[in-house]
Amino acid sequence: MTARLAQAKTPPLSLVMFGASGDLTARKLLPALASLADKGSLAGGTGLIGVARTKWSDDEFRDHCLKAVPDAKPAWAGFASRFRYVSGNYDDDATFERILEILAELDSPSGDGGTAGNRLFYLATIPALFGEVARGLARHGLNHPGPGGKFARLVIEKPFGRNLETAMALDETLHESFEENQIYRIDHYMGKETVQNVLALRFANSIFEPVWNRRYVGHVHVTVAESLGVEHRGSFYESAGALRDIVQNHVMQVLALTLMEPSATMDPTAIRDEKVKLLRSIMAPRADEVEKAVVRAQYLPGTIEGQAVPGYRNEDGVDPRSTTETFVAMRLTVDNWRWAGVPVFIRTGKRLAKRSTEVAMVFQRPPHLPFAGQLVRGLQPNALILRIQPDEGITLRFGAKVPGQDYRVGTVAMQFSYKEAFGGDPPEAYERLLLDAMTGDPTLFIRTDEVEQAWRLLEPIQEAFAEGYPHLSLYEAGSWGPLEAARLLEPDGYEWVNP
Ligand code: BG6
Repeated sequence: MTARLAQAKTPPLSLVMFGASGDLTARKLLPALASLADKGSLAGGTGLIGVARTKWSDDEFRDHCLKAVPDAKPAWAGFASRFRYVSGNYDDDATFERILEILAELDSPSGDGGTAGNRLFYLATIPALFGEVARGLARHGLNHPGPGGKFARLVIEKPFGRNLETAMALDETLHESFEENQIYRIDHYMGKETVQNVLALRFANSIFEPVWNRRYVGHVHVTVAESLGVEHRGSFYESAGALRDIVQNHVMQVLALTLMEPSATMDPTAIRDEKVKLLRSIMAPRADEVEKAVVRAQYLPGTIEGQAVPGYRNEDGVDPRSTTETFVAMRLTVDNWRWAGVPVFIRTGKRLAKRSTEVAMVFQRPPHLPFAGQLVRGLQPNALILRIQPDEGITLRFGAKVPGQDYRVGTVAMQFSYKEAFGGDPPEAYERLLLDAMTGDPTLFIRTDEVEQAWRLLEPIQEAFAEGYPHLSLYEAGSWGPLEAARLLEPDGYEWVNP
């Protein structure tokens, strides 16, 4: 078996990329597209129009596309030779008129059948420009397919607003020009194979689901740990912080899949309905509980893998007196029949000891241990740990008899590794998401009500942060976060499961 994508083939279409000279396009979108070209997933006549303010010719853009994927196979150069480029501002009608002209050329049947009036607009721009581009497209009729075409879709990237109010305003603007079913909101965590595998693990097996509830699970942990700092994005991060950057989207999406009720089918509406139902059942701390149930922290200088790294306040683009959080931990509960009373602990941070995203379902301890106390000292509760990344896999932790005369019981683990089972690394998230947007499968994209619900439940915490509480804790880069994060679990008698 291999881990290659089961290959769908895209219909003929023109992909119009706004922000074509930017970082996301070069780092993620072009390599994903090149990989799809290599696997034969792209229809022969697939067109690509790059749009950005940078003054490039078609040839300079093609050159950029080739350089962005230095190890691409020959198929990529073949596609890239037909790429087109429009240099212009997004508030200028001339930009959209030029796009229209090129789309008409690409649509007309040539040797390879043309792009048949189908369009996918990818907004790899800063979010402040989403509304402007959507309006520009609509003014020129580009919110509808071209002649003979079947679809015109709009792909946007997080952040979707800064809070509930701005998220709703953004959607209102987008909905003036595009229907909800034309909008594909990307949260790249949904494109990760291991995140999708949460559904396979839960619903394609009969041994996990019966214990996936309050009767057996004692608590749930979600950790999204990064060893990187804010890199070159200091000024962006200053206005975001960990709550907006990771918790509102990636953590909530992973939680939704892990804790939602089984969906009867894999139909996109059925899955997204279950996710949003779960998000509606999450009880985040209220404003008066934030002091006890939320930890907010920032990294100090420290050492990661033997390298000295600066503190957050010394990063480029960061205010030396900044109070932006680079770490958040909190205790949530889920008020529904399945999860009532089970604490859900989440934490995320930059400059932690190790890059690791994991979900740990930690089971209750046995009701009675017949072994003498000293023989089971240190025995950890059973846990099923979903290793989302890196080292993708699943760990089942349990107790086993340590060889010897007495009944000493130690903690051991059974491991499943994607790499060993399927050979090779799982495909990049963007490859899957781009392919789904092109083929029109919205399952892994975020619906407007999911975005709003995730903001709604974090709103009291955002307000508390803005008012300066809980106090900002500090942690050394290279640690597992501040002491306060460990204390968050103490009242329940638990500890974090560190990767
Ligand atoms: C992005 C955040 O959404 O996710 C970044 O804006 C973060 O700050 C990144 O580094 C993490 O993604 P991954 O796939 O490396 O876990």
